[in-house]
Amino acid sequence: MEQKPISELINLSGKNAIVTGGAVGIGLGIVSRLAEAGANVLIADLDEKEGEKSTDGKKVKFLKTDVSQEEEVKKMIETVAKEFGGLDIIVNNAGIYPQKPVSHMTKEDFDKVMSVNLRSVFLCTREASKQMISQGHGGRIINITSIDALHPSMIGLAHYDASKHGVWGFTKNSALELAEHKIWVNAIAPGGIATPGVAKMSPSGGDVKKNIEAFMAKIPMRRMGEPDDIGKVALFLASDLASYMTGSQIVVDGGVLLS
Ligand SMILES: NC(=O)c1ccc[n+]([C@@H]2O[C@H](COP(=O)([O-])OP(=O)(O)OC[C@H]3O[C@@H](n4cnc5c(N)ncnc54)[C@H](O)[C@@H]3O)[C@@H](O)[C@H]2O)c1
Repeated sequence: MEQKPISELINLSGKNAIVTGGAVGIGLGIVSRLAEAGANVLIADLDEKEGEKSTDGKKVKFLKTDVSQEEEVKKMIETVAKEFGGLDIIVNNAGIYPQKPVSHMTKEDFDKVMSVNLRSVFLCTREASKQMISQGHGGRIINITSIDALHPSMIGLAHYDASKHGVWGFTKNSALELAEHKIWVNAIAPGGIATPGVAKMSPSGGDVKKNIEAFMAKIPMRRMGEPDDIGKVALFLASDLASYMTGSQIVVDGGVLLS
């Protein structure tokens, strides 16, 4: 097989991508690296104010989207096809992690986390894969799971952990099904990453602060991750550097699962 130079392997010029939840945090870290590598990127997020800040009107655009809603996901795929001419890469990153003890968790709390974290991945994968199959030249689907897809990080996240285990299972089965269309489906499992969502989890005092402190003490690399730590791995999975990978989950956690 011909050996391409590294600069060519990582070049995403001419590729069209969607990053869900790309307005801030991990999603924005991913948007930034995909755009730097040359891709056109549609940020699909609920937060219009933050999402618009990273657009340039040409290569990075924004669409207000609730990825848990079927009609909005369909509109997202129509928009990427209309604005950029197709879809090659989708990163299913949007997610929420409200803490609630399971004994106090309502059906609504549980359903909300499931619909934003898991049903959205189903809806986005279904619509994105239909678009990619119709184009006929394959594609990449990257699902952002969590170390909680493998092992609980802290109490109060039983619904979240169920949703992320679900995304990991969904990743493997859709990878198996979509391989014949040259659509490679992989996951990234972040550990503790400093994002606006995590900052909102840490009010001064209370159990949340204690939980986060206990989590921090377990990180062998002795720092929280940055959104770019995940952005770089997403770029790897979106590029031809990851030419023989599907159905895998890459853990990016500073070693925390070891401790
Ligand atoms: N930060 C961490 O430590 C960490 C660790 C493991 C996994 N993750 C996962 O990474 C992803 C991003 O986390 P983050 O920390 O950057 O979160 P964040 O809260 O900082 O940002 C999430 C973004 O998703 C958007 N969003 C939320 N619900 C949405 C919906 N229904 N439709 C569209 N957009 C929506 C928000 O508006 C926001 O812009 C999540 O799936 C999360 O579970 C995060």
